[in-house]
Amino acid sequence: MDMELIRTRKSVRTFDGQGISEEDREKLSTYIRSIENPYHIPVRFMILGAKKHGLSSPVISGEHFYITAKVPKTEHCEEAFGYAFEKMVLYAWSLGIGTTWIGGTMKREVFEREAGVTEDEIMPCVSPLGYPAKNRSLKEMAMRTAIRADKRLPSDELFFDNDFGTPLHTDDITVNNALEAVRLAPSAVNRQPWRIVRQGDSYHFYEKKNVSGGGDWDVQKVDLGIALCHFMGIAGGTLTVSSPAIQTADDTEYIATVTL
Ligand SMILES: Cc1cc2nc3c(=O)[nH]c(=O)nc-3n(C[C@H](O)[C@H](O)[C@H](O)COP(=O)(O)O)c2cc1C
Repeated sequence: MDMELIRTRKSVRTFDGQGISEEDREKLSTYIRSIENPYHIPVRFMILGAKKHGLSSPVISGEHFYITAKVPKTEHCEEAFGYAFEKMVLYAWSLGIGTTWIGGTMKREVFEREAGVTEDEIMPCVSPLGYPAKNRSLKEMAMRTAIRADKRLPSDELFFDNDFGTPLHTDDITVNNALEAVRLAPSAVNRQPWRIVRQGDSYHFYEKKNVSGGGDWDVQKVDLGIALCHFMGIAGGTLTVSSPAIQTADDTEYIATVTL
C-alpha cells in the first residue's frame, strides 16, 4: 500500500459534475471484485447511478455515481466491511476518484432498497464516486471545520507499549509508517476510536467507544476495520482475535491482534 495515497486522501464532497470515465469505471469494477479482507467475510460491492436509483446525500454535490457494499450480519462483519471498503477508497484515489464514507448523512432506506440489502445483511456505509471539483462547496467547508476534519490526535494518545499507560516509541521505520497510516485514517465524525498496544511483535487493536449509535451494528468497528487496513497495508502481518490480559477502561473493547 502506498503511504502517499494515505497521506493525500481526503473526503471529497464536491464533485466536478462530469461522472467517471468508462476506463476508470472499468478499472474500479475489476478491482472491487478482487478485494479480500483478513476476516474472510465476503463484502459485495455495487456501483449505482445516482439519477437512475434516486440516490443523493445532503452534504454531497456534483456526483453521478455511488458505491455501496453489503456484508452478511455476522461476528466481525463491521471490521471486515471497514477493511474492504477502505481498500476500495484508496484504490479509487489512486485513479484520482474522490470518495466520502457516508454512514449518517443519507436516506439509508433508499440506499438499502436500491442495493437490495436483505435481513441477513448490513450496509454500514456508502460513498459517492467522482472527480473532485476545483473548489469545495461552502457547505463542505463548513462541515470540515465543524468536525475538525483536518485534525488528528497525537500518536502518544493512540499507541502504547505493553499497557495503556506507556506511549509507544520505536525506531522501526515500517512500524512507524504503519502507525502513522492508522493515525491519518478517516473515521466517523473524525472521532479516531483506534488504540493500539504493542507486546513484542504483536499489535493489539482496541476500540475506544466515543460515538453512541443506534441499530444492531457499531460504526466504530467499521473505523477499526479501516485502521487494520492501513496498518496491514503498510506493515503486513497476520490477524488473529484473542484478547490479551491487558487492563482496559470500561469504554475500551479489544478488537484484534496483528502479529508482524
Ligand atoms: C464509518 C464512517 C462514516 C462516516 N459518515 C459520514 C457521513 O455520514 N457524512 C459525511 O459527510 N462524512 C462521513 N464520514 C467522513 C468523516 O467525517 C471524515 O472521514 C473525517 O471527518 C476525516 O476527514 P477526511 O476523510 O477528509 O480525512 C464518515 C467516515 C467514516 C469512516
